Amino acid sequence: MCGIVGILSHEPVAQRLVDGLKRLEYRGYDSAGIAVINDNKIRRCRSQGKIVNLDARLAQEKIDGVIGIAHTRWATHGMPTEENAHPHMTEEVAIVHNGIIENYKVLRDDLIEKGFSFYSQTDSEVIAQLLTFFEKESTSHLEAIFKTLDKLEGAYALGIMFKADPTRLYGMRKGSPLAIGHGEKGEMFLGSDALALAGLAENLTYLEDGDLAVLTRDNIEIFDKDHKKAIRPSQRYTAGFEAISKAPYDHFMLKEIYEQPDVVRQTLNTYLSADKKSLSFPKLTFDPDSISKLTIVACGTSYYAGLVAKYWIEQIARISVDVDIASEFRYRQPPMPKEGVALFISQSGETADTMAAHEYAVSERQQTLGIINVPNSSLARAVHTPLMTYAGPEIGVASTKAFSTQLCVLAAFALHLAHERGLVSSEKLEQHCHDLASLPNALEQVLGLAASCKDIAEDLSKAQDILYIGRGTSYAIALEGALKLKEISYIHAEGCAAGELKHGPIALVDENVPVIVVAPSDALFEKLASNVQEAAARKGQVVFISDKKGQQAYHGDALARLTVPDTTVFTAPFIYTVPVQLLAYYTAVHKGTDVDQPRNLAKSVTVE
Ligand code: F6R
Repeated sequence: MCGIVGILSHEPVAQRLVDGLKRLEYRGYDSAGIAVINDNKIRRCRSQGKIVNLDARLAQEKIDGVIGIAHTRWATHGMPTEENAHPHMTEEVAIVHNGIIENYKVLRDDLIEKGFSFYSQTDSEVIAQLLTFFEKESTSHLEAIFKTLDKLEGAYALGIMFKADPTRLYGMRKGSPLAIGHGEKGEMFLGSDALALAGLAENLTYLEDGDLAVLTRDNIEIFDKDHKKAIRPSQRYTAGFEAISKAPYDHFMLKEIYEQPDVVRQTLNTYLSADKKSLSFPKLTFDPDSISKLTIVACGTSYYAGLVAKYWIEQIARISVDVDIASEFRYRQPPMPKEGVALFISQSGETADTMAAHEYAVSERQQTLGIINVPNSSLARAVHTPLMTYAGPEIGVASTKAFSTQLCVLAAFALHLAHERGLVSSEKLEQHCHDLASLPNALEQVLGLAASCKDIAEDLSKAQDILYIGRGTSYAIALEGALKLKEISYIHAEGCAAGELKHGPIALVDENVPVIVVAPSDALFEKLASNVQEAAARKGQVVFISDKKGQQAYHGDALARLTVPDTTVFTAPFIYTVPVQLLAYYTAVHKGTDVDQPRNLAKSVTVE
């Protein structure tokens, strides 16, 4: 959510700042801008909308310098206009900011009383004005920054440069991530994530919460939250540019859907033994036998992965599971069991609500686990036991491959708990591991439904409301299908437990409403089929997703049928996810929406 790049060099930096922003555009694309220092002046170029607009503007304005900061914005305070685009600046200082300054109104009013003028509706501009105020009454820029930070409430990652000192770039973080890249030729970089720095620097230092870093071309000085000098390790990050190309696909989302067989294989390779007959699960910091309840907390798609896991863990490991939406969990302040265990799921590892929920769980003395895709992210570093997924960078804003890899870890976790608790025999475990290991092939097969999904999507794209229904783990997949569709096609969609239809949502059904049915032939199939008949009887346009057996058993009307490969009850969620992803993707393509960067959204939601 918002992206930051900063470069301190001895060569012109404008083009590399823009290139860095392009790699970060998935984090926000409401507006973008850069500022550089040149001829003893801060020069700035900003534009509304995507970075191509900034590129075009820069071609005309041609600003450049050897030090600069850049930002791509996801609007929180103030419309996505040029005035509200970052960098924000005064004559003396320019800043870029990720996060939210919660007390900005009070600070702003106070500065206005002191004679300062504001030019945007953002919370961020107050930081530039405060720095300007404190610069005058401080003996150093560092002192002015510390005084400013003391006033700020909320979350931030910041990049700052002062006109009076073009040899220093300042970066700091509280609640939002920030990394420093060590260049090889007397250069230093700031980036809101490793992707921003791909191709610029291979040696990265991640700042800890509360850190302030002072960058010169050949040195870094870091101060911790108590203003004491601190040393942070640096590590190599070698992801190349190829990781972020969507070729040969039209969209990152489609590429990522097609990557699922590979990333599922890679993730399973970590959590299954080499012969795929047993698990290879990291040592846990708690005894599975003694937990009475597991709490799972996440947001959005990651939350739905948690919901699938609730069914798995309760059924196989016989541990009761609470699944919570992170933004609700933290403020509800639920009592947590003594010596309890809490699991956090996050693709980015930076979601503000999930991070805050984790903090709450730690304060409640829980052992914490995290299922995370981005190495070195804030959550990966905060949990007691990180369980990484190996989806690779996910660029499409709608999460697809990350979800499938989260399911891999959750499936292995459920089996591990069950095995440790003596609830699955070694033979049964071997069977489950074998089923998991066959998933990459089954996923390749189910991707063969793309052409049929594209056809069905043409009808779906004309709908105003679409219902998704399922039972058991397929209820979670119905919810995920509805989320995927609404976020990229802007069609209203609702996922609902099939048994709940008649308690309200069926009132929506008429001949204009497609009803997508996630229907593996499992123990709940008959019940689900009856619910589908109820919808079909009200002229709902049924899209029936099932295996061969299920297709034969369903005799009702259907607008379309999608036949997926046979699965076990346990592995069904992996397979049924793919058609709902493809239906959402092609519906959005038919509607002509911006699939990879849907309106109003951003990847990595680092504000509450
Ligand atoms: C939906 C989607 C979001 C994220 C949610 C959590 O396609 O991508 O709902 O799943 O914002 O993000 P992470 O997993 O990064 O915590």
